[in-house]
Amino acid sequence: MEVVILSGNKPIAALAADAIEALLRRKPDAVLGLATGSSPLPVYTELALRHERDGLDFSRVRAFALDEYVGLPAGHPQSYRAVIRREFTERVNLDPANVHGPDGLAADIPASCRAFEDAIRAAGGVDLQLLGVGTDGHLGFNEPGSSLASRTRVKTLIEQTRRDNARFFGSLSEVPHHVVTQGLGTILEARHVILIATGAQKAQVVRDLVEGPVAAICAASVLQLHPHATILVDEAAASSL
Ligand code: GLP
Repeated sequence: MEVVILSGNKPIAALAADAIEALLRRKPDAVLGLATGSSPLPVYTELALRHERDGLDFSRVRAFALDEYVGLPAGHPQSYRAVIRREFTERVNLDPANVHGPDGLAADIPASCRAFEDAIRAAGGVDLQLLGVGTDGHLGFNEPGSSLASRTRVKTLIEQTRRDNARFFGSLSEVPHHVVTQGLGTILEARHVILIATGAQKAQVVRDLVEGPVAAICAASVLQLHPHATILVDEAAASSL
């Protein structure tokens, strides 16, 4: 695990975008793993800029989202499908047909989770997975206690995560209780993972995930087992290391 402490969002976004740009120059049809939450947003902005300014080409890229709320109507502005479209794929030349996410509206969610895992495998696996981390250590929506070997499945959000995410909704009561998320075992199969955490509210979880034991109570600690994990943090998030 490589931990890089930077001065803020801009250098973090630049470093993550450099890794994605280098990958796309080497492999134009790379498979990207996309995350939501606020942490990856500056990376998407930087990639959109490089697309505009330098012609960074996403036309052959395939992409898989990490997670999705269960039951949000199609087109709800906070569905992760909509967020990823708005914040990233619409701003570059990434074909919407090449962007896949877990389906929170499927009639048979377990079957759709298996199909999603098959689609990742058929694409050759994820080359580079962007990640944020919840204040409780969740990756995607793998809440504390998630099996370190888990695959894409339904999870129930803990109250802290619903409260953390209420800022994106009108009120806490509008935040769904259930989600579909790639499992920790799924995430571990990405060839390179880049996790971004900023701000003092992430200091404890950064310490737990970098220096704590590998334990399901902090799902993100599983990245200690990953052969190529890059953790990008600002000074506030690194302050308890
Ligand atoms: C949500 C997402 C996670 C994300 C987390 C942190 O719960 N499901 O993938 O890492 O939020 O969000 P933020 O980056 O806004 O702190």
